[in-house]
Amino acid sequence: MAKTKSIFYCQNCGTQSAQWIGKCPNCNQWNTFVEEVIHRDDDKVSTENIPLKKGHDTPTLIREINIQSLDRIDTSNQELNRVLGGGLVPGSLILVGGEPGIGKSTLMLQLALNIRNRKVLYVSGEESEQQIKMRADRVGIINENCYILTETVTKNIFRHIRQLVPDLVIIDSIQTLTTEIIDSSAGSISQIRECAAEMQRFSKASDVPVFLVGHITKDGTLAGPKILEHMVDTVLQFEGDRHYGYRLLRSVKNRFGSTSELGIYEMQGDGLREISDPSEIMISQSGENLSGVAIGSTMEGLRPMLIETQALVSTAAYGTPQRSSTGFDLRRLSMLLAVLEKRGGFRFGNKDVFLNIAGGIKIDDPSLDLAVVIALLSSSEDIPVNQKHCFAAEVGLSGEIRPVNRIEQRISEAEKLGFTEIYLSPFNQKNLPSIPYNIRIVEVKKLEDIFSLLFG
Ligand code: TYD
Ligand code: MG
Repeated sequence: MAKTKSIFYCQNCGTQSAQWIGKCPNCNQWNTFVEEVIHRDDDKVSTENIPLKKGHDTPTLIREINIQSLDRIDTSNQELNRVLGGGLVPGSLILVGGEPGIGKSTLMLQLALNIRNRKVLYVSGEESEQQIKMRADRVGIINENCYILTETVTKNIFRHIRQLVPDLVIIDSIQTLTTEIIDSSAGSISQIRECAAEMQRFSKASDVPVFLVGHITKDGTLAGPKILEHMVDTVLQFEGDRHYGYRLLRSVKNRFGSTSELGIYEMQGDGLREISDPSEIMISQSGENLSGVAIGSTMEGLRPMLIETQALVSTAAYGTPQRSSTGFDLRRLSMLLAVLEKRGGFRFGNKDVFLNIAGGIKIDDPSLDLAVVIALLSSSEDIPVNQKHCFAAEVGLSGEIRPVNRIEQRISEAEKLGFTEIYLSPFNQKNLPSIPYNIRIVEVKKLEDIFSLLFG
């Protein structure tokens, strides 16, 4: 018999309650509870709509389970393969989140068009077939095996899946799907949850990997429930500054790989281009030595990356000096300025200070501290720093130069890119393997030492 019941859901975090409450006990947001009517026809819960592979309805002995089927699928997209932990696992459910306009649909369409010898079904609830074709023309790749479906009702999607038998399904986006067993509108918590659950049942039972595209709210969390993150195997976050072309694909959760991997793309007129050597784009290769520029070493995931920090220190035109920072934590900048004042005797009290990380990316790796300090001093003293020197160390409150992790990788990267000197903490030297490097390693213990080395 059909049961109808209504539940109140917090639209922010997905907490449910039998009655309306003003403040969510879980996420402490006010007025987020909305009533959703759930009409569940238990007799025909949609599993029967979902195409299942034979033999999945009985328990199996663990020693008889064949992991051959776990062979990863090559997506023909090296950055995506890397973030997924070495390729796509059959039967996995992957959520791709990101702000509107960041390029989720483009990434997914490029995947659908690039993948070799697999039949792909791209389900779009957001764009028409023509719009998708236009985008595909822009990207300029033709795949004989890519099918487009504009549909939002899960039952119909499964009907098409049964007819088509695709090897990969992409849903753009989960917020547009609706299932008939729930009455609330598309995008509501209960719809998102139920549709994702149906997709999960489908992917597990049929071994077909499914990508779900999900929107992100203004505060950067995935729209709708956290629950979605628990259901899926992998959560990928696509992010970047919309005014710059660079896009980072991070793995936030991965049941089949490491979460510290990172994929880097550049959005171009003809789609996303994979960037396999990130340092090259983050350093402006003018060849000139300019004051206020220092190159720091940072890790993005497991990949070392050299990045340009630019600083401008000038006399404040108005009473209160300005502090502005793009891509670097402003509080950390203030701390470094205070350390410079106290330990180095530099006066920034009446100076405007601007800091910029090249390429429009955000860095929260403390190993960039030393490069920031050097860029600030270089600008303040108007003495350029040799662009063949780079810096990898954290700066402590008493002006000591502190060690950073994965130093060998950082040194190798700097060496590979033709840097001649790298400045680091002597405590890092201790753990270094004794292989000779083709780059001079300069140890500095305190800020004072480096001032005299660089600025005389
Ligand atoms: P889109 O994939 O629609 O973003 P999302 O699905 O995350 O909302 O990307 C849209 C943006 O990408 C849009 O601003 C236009 C830009 N774009 C390019 O710069 N080059 C391209 O080849 C394509 C297809 C899009
Ligand atoms: Mg889109």
